[in-house]
Amino acid sequence: MDSIIVRGGGPLSGRVPIAGAKNACLALMPATLLTDEPLTLTNVPRLSDIATMTRLLQSLGAEVSELQEGRVLVLSGLGADNPRADYEIVRRMRASNLVLGPLLARHGRAEVSLPGGCAIGARPMDIHVAGLQALGAEIELRDGYLHARAPKGLRGAQLTLRFASVGATENILMAAVLARGTTVISNAAREPEIVDLARCLRSMGARIEGEGSGTITIDGVERLHGATHPVVSDRIELGTYMLAPAIAGGAVEFPGGRVDLLRAFCEKLDEAGVSISETGAGLRVARGDGPVRAVDVRTGVYPGFPTDLQAQMMALLCTARGTSVLEETVFENRFMHAPELMRMGADIEVRGGTATVRGVSRLKGAPVMATDLRASVSLILAALAAEGETRVSRVYHLDRGYEQVVRKFRAIGADIERVPG
Ligand code: EPZ
Repeated sequence: MDSIIVRGGGPLSGRVPIAGAKNACLALMPATLLTDEPLTLTNVPRLSDIATMTRLLQSLGAEVSELQEGRVLVLSGLGADNPRADYEIVRRMRASNLVLGPLLARHGRAEVSLPGGCAIGARPMDIHVAGLQALGAEIELRDGYLHARAPKGLRGAQLTLRFASVGATENILMAAVLARGTTVISNAAREPEIVDLARCLRSMGARIEGEGSGTITIDGVERLHGATHPVVSDRIELGTYMLAPAIAGGAVEFPGGRVDLLRAFCEKLDEAGVSISETGAGLRVARGDGPVRAVDVRTGVYPGFPTDLQAQMMALLCTARGTSVLEETVFENRFMHAPELMRMGADIEVRGGTATVRGVSRLKGAPVMATDLRASVSLILAALAAEGETRVSRVYHLDRGYEQVVRKFRAIGADIERVPG
């Protein structure tokens, strides 16, 4: 298991290219199961989660070929006749559950292992199940697997999600596109990754309206055809790297960066005193001299402050002037990075879903451990301006969601290297 060593330094400068969105790509890939014709995805990020989804789809009998060193995927669901998503793969990556809806829609049956818990929470699938049952699926839990059948096919329905779950919205959307009749999903998730999935499905012949609002209407069609679709830019990767100059000082450019996908996050950075300007080519983020101001943050479903940027924002607030209160409302256990930041001298008090962060003048480098994808990168961000050396272990978490992370940080002047062990 590799580690990453960061030595705290001065202001940063340079450019960070942003890849395609992991969380869009993980929903787009299973859409290939909805048609026999090829689906080509471009702007694909090279991440271990994408490799895991590739393995899963291939285990179902689909074909996935990589072009341009993995930047382009050509997928085909033609040979996908195995409806069983195995625990061995699903337990590694919860997003494997996104094959449930497409398998049901196309083949009338699916056996998908429950993912099991992970570092940030129990992560049940009750909202997925309730939505698919509303479309006429019979689903029972047996031996840790969801056994789903729709012998007479799926039929459109009006349904309301009890919580705007991203994955449940994606599974239900992919099931409804081939259902008989009209489906209306109320309290649907509104994330840009869902908008991207809807656009891809529409280019495959699906009839969808309202994606990005709280209500999505789908008129089922007989079949879908192939398409070519560019994966939307990764707003979480962008937000993560925007925090680098905010923490270490300096100014960094983000070609193609879009504020509109990160409005709540950008408003909080602005409130903290970080300057974000839209250039002709994308975004420029800069922090003048002196620490940022403390701000209070409450995560929420889109368009609220993204839970996937909470850990990274905490790293910034550890050295802000004043006290910040972070409230995590989406996951029940997403402060695993706090004890690691405290090893670096941060002053954080966690009570349930609320973390109170009292800014200190400077963090000190220390050996710390990554616990989940976003926690890992928050430790690297904290180390950028810390005094001395920080060694982050278990960085395989990073490889799941951040492409060429050492290279991208090094390109803007960070003193960072990856070492075995
Ligand atoms: C997606 O996970 C993302 N993953 C997560 O990103 C992200 O944190 C999350 O949405 C919220 O934005 C992918 O898109 C692959 P949810 P998902 O269903 O779909 C509860 C990352 O770091 N819930 O919106 O699993 C659940 O327990 C990852 O890139 C139920 O109770 O998230 C959680 O507390 C981490 N029952 C909350 O809803 C259900 O049936 C949000 O879950 C489903 C969810």
